[in-house]
Amino acid sequence: MTALAKGFDRLAPIYDSLAQLVIGQGIRTSQLFFLHHLAQKQNLLILGGGTGWILPTIFKINPTLQIDYVELSPKMLAKARLNAGGNRNVRFIEGTERNIGNSKYDCVITNFYLDLFNNEQLYPVVNQVKESLQPKASWLATDFSSERKWHKVILWIMYRFFSLATGLTTSSLPKWEEGLKRAGGKLVETRKSKAGFIKSVVFDF
Ligand SMILES: C[S@@+](CC[C@H](N)C(=O)[O-])C[C@H]1O[C@@H](n2cnc3c(N)ncnc32)[C@H](O)[C@@H]1O
Repeated sequence: MTALAKGFDRLAPIYDSLAQLVIGQGIRTSQLFFLHHLAQKQNLLILGGGTGWILPTIFKINPTLQIDYVELSPKMLAKARLNAGGNRNVRFIEGTERNIGNSKYDCVITNFYLDLFNNEQLYPVVNQVKESLQPKASWLATDFSSERKWHKVILWIMYRFFSLATGLTTSSLPKWEEGLKRAGGKLVETRKSKAGFIKSVVFDF
């Protein structure tokens, strides 16, 4: 197991409560804005989904959606299994973007996942995910945005915290939205929350 996986394992029991305590309910509501885009889809890839708290909502929006849930931390994955409540449409994969396999998806969700990479790592990661998408797939992403001075201060504190708590080696927010555009994504919808600190987007690929 990698050091980062062990780090997120340590956080798994408290991750959701901590995130809501620090950021507030917006950490969750921002991830729900664009889920209606999944209603007509068939194969969803979720990367770095954490505890999988979002899964029951996705099941309601599209009960037949086949989901591959790729998550680095075994303890996060165990929680996601519980949150899935035995739903047979989800395949849980312990690993990273390198373990996606040969499936072709028509939608992907990356929430607070692209922020784990630096600008150099981001482009290959986005391209790797893009390789597993069908034409006209939708990419739903929610992540932090650094537009104001206080955003930068909070991000600085958060990256220090994640470095200590999980061993995360990156130390600042990459230009994740630019990375999606550079890979050929076309922005379809965008919405800001928490005074612009969180941005949710839908890109078509
Ligand atoms: C910041 S948390 C976000 C969790 C979830 N998306 C949410 O917003 O509640 C990032 C998650 O990604 C996982 N992770 C880190 N690097 C990963 C990678 N390369 N591939 C898949 N999962 C990864 C971590 O274990 C953690 O559960």
